[in-house]
Amino acid sequence: MDKTRRRILKTSLLGTAAIASGCSMETTEQTGVSGTTAFGTPLKILILGGTGFIGPHMVREGLRRGHVIELFNRGRTNSELFPDLKLYKGDRDGGLSVLEGGEWDVVIDNSGYVPRHVEDSARMLAPIVSHYCYISTISVYGDMTSGPIDEDSAVGMIEDETVEEVTGETYGPLKALCENRVLSEVGANRTTVLRPTYVCGPGDRTDRYTYWPARILKGGDMLWPGTPDDDIQIIDVRDLANFTIDSVEKRISGVYNTVTPAGEFKMGDMLEDCLAVTGADVTPHWVSTDFLNEQEVRLPIWEDPNGEFAPLLKVNGSRAVAAGLKNRPTRETARDTVDWWKTLPADRTEIARAGITLEREAELLEIWSERS
Ligand SMILES: NC(=O)c1ccc[n+]([C@@H]2O[C@H](COP(=O)([O-])OP(=O)(O)OC[C@H]3O[C@@H](n4cnc5c(N)ncnc54)[C@H](OP(=O)(O)O)[C@@H]3O)[C@@H](O)[C@H]2O)c1
Repeated sequence: MDKTRRRILKTSLLGTAAIASGCSMETTEQTGVSGTTAFGTPLKILILGGTGFIGPHMVREGLRRGHVIELFNRGRTNSELFPDLKLYKGDRDGGLSVLEGGEWDVVIDNSGYVPRHVEDSARMLAPIVSHYCYISTISVYGDMTSGPIDEDSAVGMIEDETVEEVTGETYGPLKALCENRVLSEVGANRTTVLRPTYVCGPGDRTDRYTYWPARILKGGDMLWPGTPDDDIQIIDVRDLANFTIDSVEKRISGVYNTVTPAGEFKMGDMLEDCLAVTGADVTPHWVSTDFLNEQEVRLPIWEDPNGEFAPLLKVNGSRAVAAGLKNRPTRETARDTVDWWKTLPADRTEIARAGITLEREAELLEIWSERS
């Protein structure tokens, strides 16, 4: 199969959190807008998609810094979350007219999955706002064979650019097209494109990172894949939110991978984080990648270090760090994820939405111990 075709067909590593979760969040909160800001004159920020997982953290950070936040979304997800904020209720698919006549300094586009929708909003808002921040993904990268991935690496392509169905396969190439639509409508000097990897922390509806500390909490014999030295990469949702607000405050233009530093966070570190913040009594069993492949087991966050997607776990994030992204210690992410998880109702936390069940894990460990 030639390289282009492979790129077109490749299933995205991250998939889309929207596909993965398909459900609403668990908390309600009150917010208010304060006066002046450390940054100077408060900005009026429009957030497209401020009520899912990442959006509320952006809203809170923007409010904390004294900015005025307004929201655009359909009113389906966590509609009770920000009762004090102005909501323009509409669908990105043909429903932008509710924004007509509005005025904002900057926009954060946190809900763009379909190029046509993103082109519509970018075209409409380009004459109104001074800066457009588009939240993309590292899933845009389409070529894992040409060395370490940085912002200049090739993005994936889709054969039919009119496709609008977002699947594990189309998610990344569609996000790459969305980036291009913003850049061509708004212009590179007024656009920030952020490419996060797995976004983790309180409020994550996919349980992809959360699976690990949540499973540790249950104690006992626990399956860990590969080796403690296997690379993983995340971004804490609060760090992403901080950098997003920085980018519109400082009009930081350009494309930025938003990830923990390549090669610094390992599976063994995550295990230590989880043990430290839970104090749980767990015996980890490191099970070989070959065994997991043979048993067709996929686990969240982790990848076969020799597999096709391994380069997506060592993405170069130094450009964002140079521009001001600060990654908190991963232990804080673990601690706050556990604290949040413990506030959820039992029927929500009984079975995580990612990872394997306790039954499947016990079955796998039994086969593994018979072999070793
Ligand atoms: N989560 C991750 O790990 C991750 C990783 C990399 C990149 N990203 C990117 O980060 C962004 C946000 O992700 P998320 O996980 O926070 O998403 P999410 O939880 O699914 O939130 C989506 C938000 O967009 C709104 N929305 C969805 N469809 C809409 C439509 N057709 N019209 C108007 N509003 C709509 C939703 O509100 P309503 O339902 O009320 O409309 C909600 O406020 C996405 O662009 C995603 O590609 C996420």
